[in-house]
Amino acid sequence: QQQSTLKLEGETYPTDEWTNTPDTILSHIGRRLYLDDNHPLAITRKLIESQFASPSYGNYSEKNPVVSTRNNFDVLGFPADHPGRSRTDTYYVNDKTVLRTHTSAHQQAYFQQIARNEHTRPEEVGYTVIADVYRRDAIDRSHYPVFHQMEGAMLWKRPATNPLAASAETAAKIMADVEKIPRHDVVVEDPNPTIHAQRNPLQDKHHSAEEVEAVATHLKRSLERMVIKIFTEASKAAAASSGGAEQEPLKVRWIEAYFPFTSPGWELEVFWQDEWLEILGCGIIKQDLLINSDVPDRIGWAFGLGLERIAMLLFNIPDIRLFWSRDERFLSQFRAGHVARFEPFSKHPACYKDVAFWLPPSAVTGGNSAAGGGVPFHENDVMEIVRGIGGDLVEDVTLIDEFTHPKTSRKSMCYRINYRSLERTLTNEESNELHLKVREKLVGELGVELR
Ligand code: PHE
Repeated sequence: QQQSTLKLEGETYPTDEWTNTPDTILSHIGRRLYLDDNHPLAITRKLIESQFASPSYGNYSEKNPVVSTRNNFDVLGFPADHPGRSRTDTYYVNDKTVLRTHTSAHQQAYFQQIARNEHTRPEEVGYTVIADVYRRDAIDRSHYPVFHQMEGAMLWKRPATNPLAASAETAAKIMADVEKIPRHDVVVEDPNPTIHAQRNPLQDKHHSAEEVEAVATHLKRSLERMVIKIFTEASKAAAASSGGAEQEPLKVRWIEAYFPFTSPGWELEVFWQDEWLEILGCGIIKQDLLINSDVPDRIGWAFGLGLERIAMLLFNIPDIRLFWSRDERFLSQFRAGHVARFEPFSKHPACYKDVAFWLPPSAVTGGNSAAGGGVPFHENDVMEIVRGIGGDLVEDVTLIDEFTHPKTSRKSMCYRINYRSLERTLTNEESNELHLKVREKLVGELGVELR
């Protein structure tokens, strides 16, 4: 099934037993939607970049999604057994090479760039970077195996020797920068202390609480401002399309969060149309990462966010597949620098079909194959088979039934596959044909028994 090499962006990679990246995924590489000025993803990118401007920040993009497992995981402190490393979650080119699962894969390179430019561009101490990222995941209207992330970071210099002794001065310097960020009057819920010994620990070998408070204040103020800018645009667009109806006042809140390469860490949520939405992850960069990235004498913060999520809210785009559409009825609705509500051009009928099967008697679910010694079953493998055959003609796949036979203890699953094109009406024969192929491949690749 697999060729012995893969050619990606002009490089040739040997494949091995880790290789699991199908052609349907590879065909998305190089599209660079974020560079098409009139595309909603590019408009969203520019809106965010406008909040992280020169000279303090450089705005970059990373075109080649092929990165080493070292940069995607090891350098960032992902433990060996982290689920993100699993072949069920990540597209491997080979055992040492993946399609990046997040823009954080480039953190080290950007920190090194700041170090290299220290004398030529001393004022550029932060950056944003946009890139396509790849994850094996569910199929539904808000998940697509290729999506875009924007990451940003900001660093401050500290004395090279004994920085802790001078931490009060460092903190004062950072607080002076905080004062340069314009204030806002949106309600912010932030109930937890910046540092919590168990939930959000201080890196006490390296940082003083005072410095971390200052960096966290700068981080929070910067990211609140960015998010408020975006949601103010979204509210304006929504009000314009609803004849000026009153929008709920904006609210944001900070939640404690864990990432292997930050401590403390947070997520920022926004209250939008009656629900709290998670918008980004961020935190104080682990000092070990900075030490390993040629900037041992700096302290700083980083954040990362998913662009599609935000663009869907801004433009009222109902299905994530639309971002990849080449249909003029979609593309012609957007113009650089403008946020307006998307007008759906038509909704074609859905055609759902169910498939029920018994897992092989030895199958182990829940991702723990080592313990049981059986063949692991992972839902993402079902998703990949459906994606490989149906591509963008599948709107979502849901598990609608699951049970274990009381006598044989065999497990049965039933998935509902919703076939619907964004651009035309699918004929019944067409979806039948796709569904038949899905059924065959489930048997051939996962060894299930159809019911
Ligand atoms: N890379 C993280 C993710 O994909 C987001 C993140 C970036 C968190 C930078 C903290 C700092 O979930």
